[in-house]
Amino acid sequence: MTYKVGILGATGAVGQEIIHLLHERKFPFSELRLLASSRSAGKVQEYQGNSWTIEETNQSSFKDLDFCIFSAGGGQSKTFAPIAKEAGCIVIDNSSAFRMDPSVPLVVPEINPEAALTHQGIIANPNCTTAISLMGLFPLHKAFGLKSLIACTYQAVSGSGAEALQELDDQLMAWSKGKNIPPKVYPHPIAFNVIPHVDDFNDDGFTREEMKLLHESRKIMDLDDLMVNCTCVRVPVRRAHSIAITASFENAIDLSVAKEAIKAFPNVELIDNPQQLEYPMPINYSGVSSCALGRMRKTEILPNGLSFWVTGDQLWKGAALNAIQIAELLISRNSAS
Ligand SMILES: NC(=O)c1ccc[n+]([C@@H]2O[C@H](COP(=O)([O-])OP(=O)(O)OC[C@H]3O[C@@H](n4cnc5c(N)ncnc54)[C@H](OP(=O)(O)O)[C@@H]3O)[C@@H](O)[C@H]2O)c1
Repeated sequence: MTYKVGILGATGAVGQEIIHLLHERKFPFSELRLLASSRSAGKVQEYQGNSWTIEETNQSSFKDLDFCIFSAGGGQSKTFAPIAKEAGCIVIDNSSAFRMDPSVPLVVPEINPEAALTHQGIIANPNCTTAISLMGLFPLHKAFGLKSLIACTYQAVSGSGAEALQELDDQLMAWSKGKNIPPKVYPHPIAFNVIPHVDDFNDDGFTREEMKLLHESRKIMDLDDLMVNCTCVRVPVRRAHSIAITASFENAIDLSVAKEAIKAFPNVELIDNPQQLEYPMPINYSGVSSCALGRMRKTEILPNGLSFWVTGDQLWKGAALNAIQIAELLISRNSAS
Protein backbone atom coordinates (compact mmCIF):
# COMPACT_ATOMS: atom_id res chain seq x y z
CA MET A 1 0.00 0.00 0.00
CA THR A 2 1.19 3.53 -0.74
CA TYR A 3 0.26 6.89 0.72
CA LYS A 4 -0.17 10.45 -0.48
CA VAL A 5 1.99 12.66 1.71
CA GLY A 6 2.15 16.43 2.11
CA ILE A 7 4.74 18.60 3.82
CA LEU A 8 3.58 22.02 4.98
CA GLY A 9 6.75 24.09 5.39
CA ALA A 10 8.63 22.01 2.82
CA THR A 11 11.18 24.75 2.12
CA GLY A 12 12.19 25.18 5.77
CA ALA A 13 14.98 23.64 7.82
CA VAL A 14 12.73 20.82 9.03
CA GLY A 15 10.82 20.45 5.75
CA GLN A 16 14.02 19.81 3.82
CA GLU A 17 14.99 17.04 6.26
CA ILE A 18 11.53 15.48 5.90
CA ILE A 19 12.01 15.25 2.12
CA HIS A 20 15.41 13.61 2.66
CA LEU A 21 14.22 11.16 5.33
CA LEU A 22 11.07 10.10 3.46
CA HIS A 23 13.41 8.97 0.68
CA GLU A 24 16.15 7.57 2.92
CA ARG A 25 13.68 5.52 4.96
CA LYS A 26 11.85 4.38 1.80
CA PHE A 27 8.57 5.68 3.14
CA PRO A 28 5.84 4.20 0.89
CA PHE A 29 4.58 7.41 -0.71
CA SER A 30 2.89 7.49 -4.11
CA GLU A 31 2.64 11.30 -4.14
CA LEU A 32 4.58 14.04 -2.37
CA ARG A 33 2.96 17.48 -2.18
CA LEU A 34 5.25 20.29 -1.11
CA LEU A 35 3.48 23.23 0.50
CA ALA A 36 4.85 26.55 1.72
CA SER A 37 3.96 30.25 1.54
CA SER A 38 3.37 32.49 -1.47
CA ARG A 39 7.09 33.42 -1.21
CA SER A 40 8.08 29.93 -2.40
CA ALA A 41 5.13 29.07 -4.64
CA GLY A 42 6.31 28.04 -8.10
CA LYS A 43 9.89 27.33 -7.04
CA VAL A 44 11.18 23.89 -7.97
CA GLN A 45 12.46 21.43 -5.39
CA GLU A 46 14.81 18.80 -6.72
CA TYR A 47 15.85 15.65 -4.92
CA GLN A 48 17.53 12.52 -6.27
CA GLY A 49 16.61 13.29 -9.87
CA ASN A 50 12.96 14.08 -9.13
CA SER A 51 11.44 17.54 -9.04
CA TRP A 52 8.36 19.05 -7.47
CA THR A 53 6.83 22.50 -7.78
CA ILE A 54 6.24 24.15 -4.40
CA GLU A 55 2.58 25.07 -3.92
CA GLU A 56 1.15 27.90 -1.88
CA THR A 57 -0.86 26.47 1.01
CA ASN A 58 -4.59 27.02 0.79
CA GLN A 59 -7.85 25.47 1.93
CA SER A 60 -7.78 22.77 -0.74
CA SER A 61 -4.10 21.81 -0.33
CA PHE A 62 -4.92 18.73 1.73
CA LYS A 63 -7.48 17.11 -0.56
CA ASP A 64 -6.73 13.40 -1.08
CA LEU A 65 -3.67 13.42 1.20
CA ASP A 66 -3.29 10.54 3.67
CA PHE A 67 -0.69 12.34 5.82
CA CYS A 68 0.60 15.88 6.04
CA ILE A 69 3.59 16.75 8.22
CA PHE A 70 3.25 20.35 9.38
CA SER A 71 6.47 22.35 9.87
CA ALA A 72 5.51 25.94 9.25
CA GLY A 73 5.02 27.36 12.74
CA GLY A 74 2.14 27.39 15.20
CA GLY A 75 0.07 29.97 13.33
CA GLN A 76 -0.09 27.89 10.16
CA SER A 77 -0.84 24.76 12.18
CA LYS A 78 -3.74 26.44 13.96
CA THR A 79 -5.16 27.67 10.65
CA PHE A 80 -4.64 24.62 8.47
CA ALA A 81 -4.64 21.54 10.75
CA PRO A 82 -8.43 21.61 11.29
CA ILE A 83 -8.92 22.03 7.53
CA ALA A 84 -6.59 19.12 6.76
CA LYS A 85 -8.26 16.97 9.39
CA GLU A 86 -11.67 17.78 7.92
CA ALA A 87 -10.36 16.66 4.53
CA GLY A 88 -9.49 13.27 6.03
CA CYS A 89 -5.73 13.84 6.15
CA ILE A 90 -3.80 12.84 9.29
CA VAL A 91 -1.78 15.81 10.53
CA ILE A 92 1.55 15.26 12.29
CA ASP A 93 2.41 18.66 13.68
CA ASN A 94 5.89 19.88 14.56
CA SER A 95 4.70 23.14 16.11
CA SER A 96 3.63 23.71 19.70
CA ALA A 97 0.04 24.56 18.64
CA PHE A 98 -1.63 21.33 19.81
CA ARG A 99 0.94 19.67 22.06
CA MET A 100 -0.89 20.30 25.31
CA ASP A 101 -4.39 19.80 23.85
CA PRO A 102 -5.81 16.84 25.83
CA SER A 103 -7.48 15.49 22.68
CA VAL A 104 -4.18 15.44 20.74
CA PRO A 105 -1.61 12.72 21.45
CA LEU A 106 1.97 13.94 21.96
CA VAL A 107 4.17 11.12 20.80
CA VAL A 108 7.72 9.80 20.85
CA PRO A 109 7.30 6.39 19.20
CA GLU A 110 9.96 4.71 21.38
CA ILE A 111 8.17 5.93 24.53
CA ASN A 112 4.40 6.14 24.12
CA PRO A 113 3.49 4.56 20.76
CA GLU A 114 0.04 3.52 21.97
CA ALA A 115 -0.93 7.18 22.41
CA ALA A 116 -0.56 7.73 18.66
CA LEU A 117 -3.28 5.16 18.00
CA THR A 118 -5.82 7.27 19.90
CA HIS A 119 -5.50 10.16 17.44
CA GLN A 120 -8.52 12.02 16.14
CA GLY A 121 -6.78 13.38 13.05
CA ILE A 122 -3.97 15.40 14.65
CA ILE A 123 -0.84 14.07 16.38
CA ALA A 124 1.71 16.42 17.94
CA ASN A 125 5.46 16.03 17.78
CA PRO A 126 7.24 17.16 20.96
CA ASN A 127 9.55 20.14 21.31
CA CYS A 128 13.01 19.20 20.04
CA THR A 129 14.74 19.54 23.42
CA THR A 130 12.04 17.46 25.07
CA ALA A 131 12.26 14.65 22.51
CA ILE A 132 16.05 14.36 22.82
CA SER A 133 16.06 14.66 26.63
CA LEU A 134 13.42 11.94 26.96
CA MET A 135 15.39 9.53 24.79
CA GLY A 136 17.84 9.46 27.71
CA LEU A 137 15.46 10.04 30.59
CA PHE A 138 12.75 7.51 29.76
CA PRO A 139 14.85 4.32 29.94
CA LEU A 140 16.30 5.58 33.23
CA HIS A 141 12.78 6.31 34.46
CA LYS A 142 11.77 2.73 33.66
CA ALA A 143 14.75 1.47 35.64
CA PHE A 144 14.62 3.73 38.70
CA GLY A 145 11.43 5.88 38.70
CA LEU A 146 12.00 9.50 37.74
CA LYS A 147 11.04 12.16 40.30
CA SER A 148 12.64 15.44 39.23
CA LEU A 149 15.36 16.89 37.03
CA ILE A 150 17.48 19.95 36.48
CA ALA A 151 18.47 20.52 32.87
CA CYS A 152 20.66 22.97 31.00
CA THR A 153 20.44 22.93 27.21
CA TYR A 154 22.99 23.65 24.49
CA GLN A 155 20.72 24.31 21.51
CA ALA A 156 21.90 24.46 17.91
CA VAL A 157 20.97 27.42 15.71
CA SER A 158 19.16 25.28 13.13
CA GLY A 159 16.60 24.80 15.90
CA SER A 160 15.48 28.35 15.06
CA GLY A 161 15.08 27.57 11.36
CA ALA A 162 16.94 28.10 8.12
CA GLU A 163 17.32 31.85 8.62
CA ALA A 164 19.13 31.41 11.94
CA LEU A 165 21.58 28.95 10.43
CA GLN A 166 22.31 31.53 7.74
CA GLU A 167 22.79 34.19 10.43
CA LEU A 168 25.50 32.13 12.16
CA ASP A 169 27.25 31.45 8.84
CA ASP A 170 27.04 35.13 7.85
CA GLN A 171 28.43 36.32 11.19
CA LEU A 172 31.32 33.85 11.02
CA MET A 173 32.09 34.87 7.43
CA ALA A 174 31.96 38.57 8.34
CA TRP A 175 34.23 37.97 11.36
CA SER A 176 36.80 36.21 9.17
CA LYS A 177 36.93 39.38 7.06
CA GLY A 178 37.25 41.60 10.14
CA LYS A 179 33.66 42.82 9.76
CA ASN A 180 30.65 42.82 12.03
CA ILE A 181 27.04 42.35 10.97
CA PRO A 182 24.12 43.10 13.28
CA PRO A 183 21.93 40.18 14.41
CA LYS A 184 18.42 39.78 12.98
CA VAL A 185 17.06 36.42 14.15
CA TYR A 186 18.62 36.50 17.63
CA PRO A 187 18.70 39.50 19.97
CA HIS A 188 22.51 39.26 20.22
CA PRO A 189 25.36 37.96 18.05
CA ILE A 190 25.44 34.15 18.07
CA ALA A 191 28.91 33.65 16.55
CA PHE A 192 31.48 33.23 19.38
CA ASN A 193 28.70 33.70 21.93
CA VAL A 194 26.10 31.77 23.94
CA ILE A 195 22.67 33.27 24.57
CA PRO A 196 20.83 32.11 27.74
CA HIS A 197 17.47 32.76 26.16
CA VAL A 198 15.35 30.51 23.90
CA ASP A 199 11.75 31.54 23.12
CA ASP A 200 9.80 34.24 24.96
CA PHE A 201 10.08 34.98 28.67
CA ASN A 202 7.17 34.30 31.02
CA ASP A 203 6.42 36.60 33.97
CA ASP A 204 8.14 34.17 36.38
CA GLY A 205 11.48 34.51 34.58
CA PHE A 206 11.42 31.12 32.86
CA THR A 207 11.10 30.96 29.08
CA ARG A 208 8.32 29.18 27.21
CA GLU A 209 10.93 26.73 25.87
CA GLU A 210 12.01 25.89 29.43
CA MET A 211 8.43 25.18 30.46
CA LYS A 212 7.85 22.93 27.43
CA LEU A 213 10.31 20.43 28.93
CA LEU A 214 8.19 20.27 32.10
CA HIS A 215 4.73 20.07 30.56
CA GLU A 216 5.57 17.87 27.59
CA SER A 217 7.67 15.44 29.68
CA ARG A 218 4.74 15.00 32.07
CA LYS A 219 2.34 14.31 29.20
CA ILE A 220 4.56 11.92 27.21
CA MET A 221 5.73 9.86 30.21
CA ASP A 222 2.37 10.16 32.02
CA LEU A 223 4.14 11.55 35.09
CA ASP A 224 1.87 14.27 36.51
CA ASP A 225 4.09 14.93 39.53
CA LEU A 226 7.41 15.22 37.69
CA MET A 227 9.37 18.35 38.68
CA VAL A 228 11.60 20.04 36.11
CA ASN A 229 13.90 23.04 36.28
CA CYS A 230 15.40 23.98 32.93
CA THR A 231 17.69 26.70 31.59
CA CYS A 232 17.71 26.89 27.79
CA VAL A 233 20.80 28.24 26.06
CA ARG A 234 21.45 28.88 22.36
CA VAL A 235 25.00 27.98 21.30
CA PRO A 236 26.87 28.57 18.01
CA VAL A 237 26.48 24.94 16.90
CA ARG A 238 24.94 24.40 13.46
CA ARG A 239 23.01 21.27 14.24
CA ALA A 240 22.14 18.81 17.11
CA HIS A 241 21.09 19.83 20.59
CA SER A 242 22.77 18.66 23.80
CA ILE A 243 21.30 18.68 27.28
CA ALA A 244 23.12 18.35 30.63
CA ILE A 245 20.70 16.68 33.05
CA THR A 246 20.84 15.94 36.75
CA ALA A 247 17.88 13.80 37.74
CA SER A 248 16.53 12.43 41.00
CA PHE A 249 14.93 8.99 41.13
CA GLU A 250 12.66 7.01 43.42
CA ASN A 251 15.12 4.13 43.74
CA ALA A 252 18.84 3.90 44.40
CA ILE A 253 20.99 4.15 41.28
CA ASP A 254 23.15 1.25 40.19
CA LEU A 255 25.42 2.62 37.45
CA SER A 256 25.76 -0.69 35.64
CA VAL A 257 21.97 -1.11 35.59
CA ALA A 258 21.63 2.47 34.31
CA LYS A 259 24.09 1.78 31.50
CA GLU A 260 22.34 -1.46 30.55
CA ALA A 261 18.99 0.40 30.49
CA ILE A 262 20.37 2.87 27.95
CA LYS A 263 21.98 0.13 25.84
CA ALA A 264 18.72 -1.83 25.74
CA PHE A 265 16.60 1.14 24.63
CA PRO A 266 16.03 1.58 20.89
CA ASN A 267 17.64 4.49 19.03
CA VAL A 268 19.86 5.74 21.84
CA GLU A 269 23.56 4.89 22.13
CA LEU A 270 25.74 4.86 25.22
CA ILE A 271 28.99 6.72 24.47
CA ASP A 272 30.57 6.90 27.89
CA ASN A 273 34.32 6.30 27.95
CA PRO A 274 35.71 9.49 29.48
CA GLN A 275 39.16 7.95 29.88
CA GLN A 276 39.30 7.57 26.09
CA LEU A 277 37.78 11.07 25.72
CA GLU A 278 34.59 9.52 24.33
CA TYR A 279 31.27 11.26 24.97
CA PRO A 280 28.44 12.38 22.67
CA MET A 281 28.97 15.62 20.77
CA PRO A 282 26.72 17.42 18.28
CA ILE A 283 29.29 17.11 15.53
CA ASN A 284 29.01 13.31 15.74
CA TYR A 285 25.21 13.20 15.96
CA SER A 286 24.23 15.56 13.13
CA GLY A 287 22.35 13.66 10.45
CA VAL A 288 22.25 10.57 12.70
CA SER A 289 19.01 8.82 13.64
CA SER A 290 20.11 7.79 17.12
CA CYS A 291 20.55 10.06 20.10
CA ALA A 292 23.47 9.39 22.45
CA LEU A 293 24.07 9.53 26.17
CA GLY A 294 27.32 9.82 28.09
CA ARG A 295 29.10 11.42 31.08
CA MET A 296 26.92 9.29 33.34
CA ARG A 297 27.80 9.62 37.04
CA LYS A 298 26.06 9.36 40.39
CA THR A 299 25.64 12.59 42.30
CA GLU A 300 24.72 13.31 45.91
CA ILE A 301 23.27 16.73 45.18
CA LEU A 302 19.79 15.16 44.80
CA PRO A 303 18.37 11.96 46.37
CA ASN A 304 19.24 8.96 44.18
CA GLY A 305 20.85 11.45 41.84
CA LEU A 306 22.29 10.78 38.41
CA SER A 307 23.97 13.30 36.09
CA PHE A 308 24.40 12.71 32.38
CA TRP A 309 24.68 14.36 28.97
CA VAL A 310 22.45 13.60 26.01
CA THR A 311 22.90 14.70 22.39
CA GLY A 312 20.67 14.29 19.35
CA ASP A 313 19.89 15.86 16.00
CA GLN A 314 16.98 18.18 16.74
CA LEU A 315 16.12 18.47 13.04
CA TRP A 316 15.73 14.68 12.97
CA LYS A 317 14.69 13.19 16.32
CA GLY A 318 13.39 16.57 17.46
CA ALA A 319 11.24 17.05 14.36
CA ALA A 320 11.47 15.36 10.92
CA LEU A 321 12.46 11.84 11.96
CA ASN A 322 10.07 11.63 14.91
CA ALA A 323 7.20 12.79 12.68
CA ILE A 324 7.98 10.17 10.03
CA GLN A 325 8.34 7.50 12.71
CA ILE A 326 4.82 8.39 13.86
CA ALA A 327 3.45 7.93 10.33
CA GLU A 328 5.35 4.64 10.02
CA LEU A 329 3.89 3.52 13.34
CA LEU A 330 0.34 4.25 12.19
CA ILE A 331 0.96 2.36 8.96
CA SER A 332 2.42 -0.63 10.78
CA ARG A 333 -0.57 -0.73 13.14
CA ASN A 334 -3.05 -0.25 10.28
CA SER A 335 -4.23 2.93 11.90
CA ALA A 336 -3.57 5.32 9.03
CA SER A 337 -7.16 6.14 8.27
N1 LIG B 1 14.20 23.68 13.41
C1 LIG B 1 14.04 22.72 14.32
O1 LIG B 1 15.01 22.09 14.77
C2 LIG B 1 12.67 22.39 14.82
C3 LIG B 1 12.53 21.35 15.75
C4 LIG B 1 11.27 21.03 16.22
C5 LIG B 1 10.17 21.73 15.77
N2 LIG B 1 10.33 22.75 14.89
C6 LIG B 1 9.14 23.47 14.43
O2 LIG B 1 8.95 23.20 13.04
C7 LIG B 1 8.40 24.34 12.42
C8 LIG B 1 9.30 24.77 11.25
O3 LIG B 1 10.57 25.08 11.74
P1 LIG B 1 11.80 25.35 10.78
O4 LIG B 1 12.97 25.40 11.67
O5 LIG B 1 11.80 24.39 9.63
O6 LIG B 1 11.48 26.84 10.24
P2 LIG B 1 11.98 27.57 8.91
O7 LIG B 1 13.28 27.03 8.45
O8 LIG B 1 11.88 29.01 9.22
O9 LIG B 1 10.86 27.18 7.84
C9 LIG B 1 9.55 27.66 7.93
C10 LIG B 1 8.68 27.03 6.86
O10 LIG B 1 7.34 27.48 7.04
C11 LIG B 1 6.86 28.00 5.82
N3 LIG B 1 5.90 29.07 6.04
C12 LIG B 1 6.11 30.24 6.70
N4 LIG B 1 4.99 31.02 6.64
C13 LIG B 1 4.08 30.29 5.92
C14 LIG B 1 2.75 30.55 5.51
N5 LIG B 1 2.14 31.70 5.78
N6 LIG B 1 2.10 29.60 4.79
C15 LIG B 1 2.72 28.44 4.47
N7 LIG B 1 3.99 28.15 4.83
C16 LIG B 1 4.66 29.06 5.55
C17 LIG B 1 8.10 28.53 5.13
O11 LIG B 1 7.83 28.67 3.76
P3 LIG B 1 8.52 29.83 2.86
O12 LIG B 1 9.85 29.29 2.45
O13 LIG B 1 7.57 29.97 1.72
O14 LIG B 1 8.62 31.05 3.71
C18 LIG B 1 9.09 27.41 5.44
O15 LIG B 1 8.88 26.33 4.58
C19 LIG B 1 8.20 25.38 13.51
O16 LIG B 1 6.91 25.25 14.04
C20 LIG B 1 9.22 24.97 14.56
O17 LIG B 1 8.87 25.39 15.84
C21 LIG B 1 11.55 23.11 14.40
